[in-house]
Amino acid sequence: MNDRIALVTGGIGGLGTEICKELARSGRRVVAADLAARSERIEQFRSEIAEFGEAIRFEPLDVADRESCASLVKRVGEQQGTISILVNSAGITRDTSLRKMDGAQWDDVLRINLGGIFNMCRLVVDGMTAQGFGRIVNISSVNGQTGQFGQTNYSAAKAGVHGFTMALAREVARKGVTVNSISPGYCDTPMVRAVPEDIRNQIIASIPVGRLGQPSEIARTVGFLADDAAGYITGANIPVNGGYFMSF
Ligand code: CAA
Repeated sequence: MNDRIALVTGGIGGLGTEICKELARSGRRVVAADLAARSERIEQFRSEIAEFGEAIRFEPLDVADRESCASLVKRVGEQQGTISILVNSAGITRDTSLRKMDGAQWDDVLRINLGGIFNMCRLVVDGMTAQGFGRIVNISSVNGQTGQFGQTNYSAAKAGVHGFTMALAREVARKGVTVNSISPGYCDTPMVRAVPEDIRNQIIASIPVGRLGQPSEIARTVGFLADDAAGYITGANIPVNGGYFMSF
């Protein structure tokens, strides 16, 4: 069943792009869903994925907008079929210390990084349980495990992602649907490149592997969890962080 339909939110982003390619390489029909307003990036994305032909297609989506989510899931259902793999990779940062954080910086991060996962899972879970198969992979973050200076909003949302993951995993475990999260460390993406250089260099110096992660390394982990054969892994949080944070 390699031609299953996969939907990746944040699909044209730093991690999302590689996730789409990884899923398409293993035969999935991939919907890369992201903000329509990112027109320049959409054009660039189209040329990056040209070699995949029809296997990856772009669809507009705002994960914080429930109507946008509902209309996309309906459209994909009508045009392609049931979404079997959902990868929630849409996320933003609004870094600043709590003393300076305003309500909008808190709300935006929670609405997109955590609320977006509710919105999308809520819409796909019935189709997955009805067909007796589903793979949901939520992109969390090492900073949801450790906390990070300037990220009370982001760390709270990302820790919340894993709580959500475990709870939903229990609800659908008997229906052939797995729900897992991945906690990437600092990867070579525009989001991490936006961290001031001196701070970024300090962080890299404290990563045991000695470098940023590659988006393809996160994508491989998504591919592993999304596989039909990964049915006994559920409610897990897989760290992919170069040893930056270790726990058991
Ligand atoms: N640890 C301890 N103290 C720190 C600090 C740190 N990391 N950073 C700043 N401070 C201190 C400052 O020196 C300053 O001290 P004084 O008041 O004594 O001068 C005080 O804290 C306040 O500093 P700022 O006014 O600079 O704080 P700010 O509100 O402007 O925020 C910041 C600074 C923008 C958050 C900056 O520290 C920063 O960018 N940090 C990196 C955040 C980060 O790692 N984000 C990850 C983004 S990538 C991502 O999120 C992907 C993923 O999942 C891994």
